[in-house]
Amino acid sequence: MRVCAVVVAAGRGERFGALKQFLPLGEHTVAATSVRVARCVASEVILVVPEGYDGNGEGADRTVTGGATRSESVRNALVTIGDADIVVIHDAARPFASEILFHAVVDAVVDGVAGAVPALELSDTVKRVQRGSSWRIIETLDRSELVTVQTPQAFRFDDLQRAHAQHGAATDDAALLEVLGAVVLAVPGETSNIKITTPDDWARVSEKEK
Ligand code: CTP
Ligand code: MG
Repeated sequence: MRVCAVVVAAGRGERFGALKQFLPLGEHTVAATSVRVARCVASEVILVVPEGYDGNGEGADRTVTGGATRSESVRNALVTIGDADIVVIHDAARPFASEILFHAVVDAVVDGVAGAVPALELSDTVKRVQRGSSWRIIETLDRSELVTVQTPQAFRFDDLQRAHAQHGAATDDAALLEVLGAVVLAVPGETSNIKITTPDDWARVSEKEK
């Protein structure tokens, strides 16, 4: 079975205020760390980089230029894949995902399953709000029905291509399959698998590295 990994690193890092994915993390960069772990399941790793960025030093087999949205960045890589049974999509900004997690999502894609994603249960109470000059609470949601979702996410290549053929945009790939009614399973995520999003996240990462 041929598994290909796509590590998306073409974001602008607006909330962070910098290209967080190319900051140094120990001996490598954040993106290079994500590429290295993705290798544990994939015979080819593609890194998607911002336009004009030379990502050749990040350890991927090849690089592709990203698009304006995360979904477009994924599509730019998908159209370059000739042959694969399973494609694993991973955010470069999640360098702490374990090899065990990569294997877990790939192994969960069995017959009749289009994809698998890591998910965590919520411990906080979750409410819907109406945003304005002050935020008004509208309702409390049933937490037992909700999870937060991470990457790596594994999909059958043909199902993922079908989902992206609609040219939709979403914050993850599973969302594009769900609307088609495809079966996407959740496997246990990892609390250590944080997505570096804001400078606060980086401060926590730096603490951990000490
Ligand atoms: N990403 C991408 N192409 C885009 C947008 C995002 O490849 N057009 C990648 C990011 O580089 C990141 C992952 O998708 O590895 C998750 O995105 P996010 O954490 O939102 O990163 P940014 O989009 O860079 O951050 P922000 O939304 O704050 O600008
Ligand atoms: Mg973003």
